[in-house]
Amino acid sequence: VPQRDNVVTSSRTGVATVTAGSAVGIVGGGQLARMTLQAADALGLEVTVLAEHPTDSAAASAARLLIGTPTTPEAMIQLADQCGVVTFDHEQVDLGILEDLERRGHLVRPGSRTLQIAVDKAAMRQRFAEAGIAVPRFAPLGQGGTDSERALAGIATFADEHGWPVVLKAVRGGYDGKGVWPVADRRAAERVCRNAHQHGTALLVEEAVEITAELAVLVARRPDGRRVAWPVVRTVQQVGICREVLLPAGLPPDVESAATALALEVADEIDSVGVLAVELFWAGDRVLVNEVAARPHNSGHWTIDGATTSQFENHLRAVLDLPLGDPSATAAAVASVNVLGGPEGLDPRDLLAGALDVPGAHVHLYGKAARPGRKLGHVTVCGDDLDDVRGRAWDAAIALGTPAITTEGDQRS
Ligand SMILES: Nc1ncnc2c1ncn2[C@@H]1O[C@H](COP(=O)(O)OP(=O)(O)OP(=O)(O)O)[C@@H](O)[C@H]1O
Ligand SMILES: [Mg+2]
Repeated sequence: VPQRDNVVTSSRTGVATVTAGSAVGIVGGGQLARMTLQAADALGLEVTVLAEHPTDSAAASAARLLIGTPTTPEAMIQLADQCGVVTFDHEQVDLGILEDLERRGHLVRPGSRTLQIAVDKAAMRQRFAEAGIAVPRFAPLGQGGTDSERALAGIATFADEHGWPVVLKAVRGGYDGKGVWPVADRRAAERVCRNAHQHGTALLVEEAVEITAELAVLVARRPDGRRVAWPVVRTVQQVGICREVLLPAGLPPDVESAATALALEVADEIDSVGVLAVELFWAGDRVLVNEVAARPHNSGHWTIDGATTSQFENHLRAVLDLPLGDPSATAAAVASVNVLGGPEGLDPRDLLAGALDVPGAHVHLYGKAARPGRKLGHVTVCGDDLDDVRGRAWDAAIALGTPAITTEGDQRS
């Protein structure tokens, strides 16, 4: 493991540390932590990042860095001991460890009870349905979720009632569409069940929603329940991965207000603290909650350049129980396009000149190793006209090696 000169590794735990006494601890060293650090810098806040690897996106920019695994108590205790509040860049956490930290009096925000819902798609669907929040029709496959025969029986019963196709999902651990499998028939479901069984993955079955558009609403919420919501954005996914985020979302006013109301309701229901990203499906006359992430989110990267207060700054404000900033957009139109690794594995840092030549392009690269399909950065353009800013954001993203969006449907297997 390469050693940074400002890092000391404990020989007992393998956990490394730099400086004690920082205010905020972030679990995870991905790009979300990296962009949170940028916001913390402006406010003069001290942040310690717990990264799994020294090569993680945020490790290079963290003045205070711990190297350790967030699912080990040693690493989490070490982080909590030197921070006033612990928050998150990702959801690969051990809820038992978090509950333990809370019992010892550490501030964990969002708390374990919020994360319990956010990290488990079955628990999420169940809880929201019970609270009367609209979600896709679903059935938990329960204990049978890891038993391929019983899972298949549960899927067949669900499909008898609601019809094929259905969507199967890993209850935990999915991201960027990994862990989401649309299946057309019993045979396809069988394949997914067998695979899931081999990997010990619990599944959930739900209706294949005929989506008019996918939306996202971000809410920043303080411990006492005061909260703000950013404007509704439209997100465009291809094979489960977010390709672009657009504002305005171009919605009928009733759909727009329903989306915002749902997101606020969800935030209150699970008592979220910090940023909560609520992903929604607009499907004809229904607005449904797809899933939530209890942290800053890809659908809110536009707020760095296009809102009065960014999601990263408001996340810090919220977890520190400070006044929240104005979430409104600073331009009539904002487009954010994700920079994805292309098939040749070119490093977007080597292609900066082309992107920086695009007028108004705000380029954000995460310092990650280039691999095909991996999120390596994003580009935001703000202006008066959505077609114009969207075109420029794509020009810059493509100059950075991002593959163009294709129309070949959403075929996953
Ligand atoms: N029930 C459904 N019907 C139709 N499409 C769906 C359904 N569930 C998911 N999808 C599609 O798959 C995408 C990914 O699904 P989901 O958000 O549940 O998974 P994820 O991998 O956790 O995503 P993320 O990258 O946001 O973490 C959705 O954005 C949507 O495009
Ligand atoms: Mg999602």
